[in-house]
Parts: sequence; structure tokens; C-alpha cells
Amino acid sequence: MAEENQNTPLAPPGIYQRSDEESATTTMKPGGSRHKKSNKCVVYFLAAVVVQSAFMLIFASIVFRVTKPDVKLRSVEIKDLQSGTPQSPSLNMTMLAEVTVQNKNFGRFEYYNSVVSVWFGNVTISDRSIDGGRVKSRKTNVIDVAVAVRADGQLLSESDRNISTDFSKELVQLSIGAELRGKVHVMKILKKSIRAQLMNCTMNLNLTSKAIQDLLCR
Ligand SMILES: *[C@@H]1O[C@H](CO)[C@@H](O)[C@H](O)[C@H]1NC(C)=O
Ligand SMILES: *[C@@H]1O[C@H](CO)[C@@H](O)[C@H](O)[C@H]1NC(C)=O
Ligand SMILES: *[C@@H]1O[C@H](CO)[C@@H](O)[C@H](O)[C@H]1NC(C)=O
Ligand SMILES: *[C@@H]1O[C@H](CO)[C@@H](O)[C@H](O)[C@H]1NC(C)=O
Ligand SMILES: *[C@@H]1O[C@H](CO)[C@@H](O)[C@H](O)[C@H]1NC(C)=O
Repeated sequence: MAEENQNTPLAPPGIYQRSDEESATTTMKPGGSRHKKSNKCVVYFLAAVVVQSAFMLIFASIVFRVTKPDVKLRSVEIKDLQSGTPQSPSLNMTMLAEVTVQNKNFGRFEYYNSVVSVWFGNVTISDRSIDGGRVKSRKTNVIDVAVAVRADGQLLSESDRNISTDFSKELVQLSIGAELRGKVHVMKILKKSIRAQLMNCTMNLNLTSKAIQDLLCR
């Protein structure tokens, strides 16, 4: 074809026309099927490219989609509880919290140091730091946190909750929360900063049984 094109400017108009007819007729005959074959090849090739691209897109959208790891409070146990009286309320205890961090990403989740807080109403009665760490790809870590609570009557009375009422009922409502900040690393390519799900739970400390009940997390 390239040679023909090079020759055409030199050829007289008549021959030029004929060669055009020739090429038209030749494409109808044996060259035609060759043309169709190569057309088919092109179609197959393009289809393969499209299918492969679709697979790569699906693969990438699964692997590179970064979701917030799930931070959950599995249980809270109370150790060494010493509580005051409704007239002179105070709390002295250790709360053993079991926190799980579920990483659904196809890459590790590295979290920084953070803080677990315990509140009585709007007053923070304890802060406990958690060391940073990492959760492997599609794994769940369990973090055990021992939170020491030393709250005297003065501190408890600063709350918007009435501590005398809670003590009379022998049921003190507390809340606990933490937020993990960190980074999800996918295949050394993608690094995404993440504020993991805020854990925010309320519970009742039963002063009679010296145990936690009605643990409710949002
Ligand atoms: C709290 O309890 C611990 C032992 O469980 C005790 O050593 C500490 O003195 C207590 N603190 C207060 C303020 O009662
Ligand atoms: C808690 O609420 C009470 C009453 O609404 C308010 O007087 C107090 O300042 C609050 N304390 C904090 C730490 O927000
Ligand atoms: C708490 O409730 C008791 C009655 O249960 C009441 O006498 C007291 O004044 C209340 N205290 C506050 C700070 O609201
Ligand atoms: C926890 O959730 C309650 C609502 O259920 C909200 O009032 C409170 O501010 C939350 N605590 C934190 C630390 O986000
Ligand atoms: C607190 O615990 C005691 C002993 O287990 C139980 O009898 C009582 O019903 C509990 N209080 C509440 C309000 O559930």
C-alpha cells in the first residue's frame, strides 16, 4: 500500500484511476479476508484490553479503597472498687477495658499514641494513654487498657449529672471513649491518614455487684 501511494503521483490519471479500481477489487478478493482477519484481531485485542482494564479497575478499587478501621469496646471489668456513700461519694477503681481494632484494609494500619477517657457526665474522671501500634492487613488487634479512676466528691460534684442520685440508686452512669488516629499503608504506594472510628460507650457501674452493666456503644 505504501509503495502504491508512492507510485501514484508519477502515474497518469487513467492508470491512477485503474490502480484505484484494482486496489478496490483486490480488497474484495483474497486481500479482503486478510483485512477481515486483521480487523477481527484488532477487535479481539481491544476487547482484551477493555476486559483487562476493567479487571484492573475492580482490583484497584478493592485493594486501594481505604476504609476506617473499626474500634470497638468489647468489655469492661472492674477491679478493686472502693466507693463512698451518697453523702460522701467517691470512686476508686481500675477499669480493665478490652478494645478491638479491626482493619479491613489491604494494608497495615499504623496508629499513633492516643488517649482513653472516662467521664462522669461532662466531667473527665480519668485519662489513660494508649501506645501506638500497628494492625496488619485484614486483621483485628486486641488492646487491653487498664484505666485507673480516682475521683473524689469534689470532682464528681462538678458534673452535670447528680452523683448523690446515682449513688442512692447504687448505679453510676459512666462513659468511655477513644479515637485512634493513624495511617493506612497500601503496598508502599498509598498512604492515607485516617481518624479511626470514635469509640463512645456508656455503661452503668453497679455499686452492689461492683460490676459494669448495660454497656452500650454507638
Ligand atoms: C485507691 O485504691 C488503692 C488500692 O486499690 C489505694 O492504694 C489508694 O490509696 C486508693 N486511693 C484513694 C484516694 O482512696
Ligand atoms: C458540666 O456541666 C455543669 C452544669 O451544666 C457546668 O457547671 C460545668 O462547668 C460543666 N463542666 C464541664 C467540665 O464542662
Ligand atoms: C441531687 O439530687 C438530690 C436529691 O436526690 C438533691 O437533694 C440535690 O440538691 C441534687 N444536687 C444537685 C447538684 O442537683
Ligand atoms: C458520645 O456520644 C454522645 C451522644 O450519645 C455525645 O453527646 C458525646 O459528646 C460523645 N462523646 C464524645 C467524646 O464524642
Ligand atoms: C446491681 O447488682 C445487684 C447484684 O448483682 C442486682 O441485684 C441489682 O439488680 C443490680 N442493679 C440494677 C439496677 O440492675
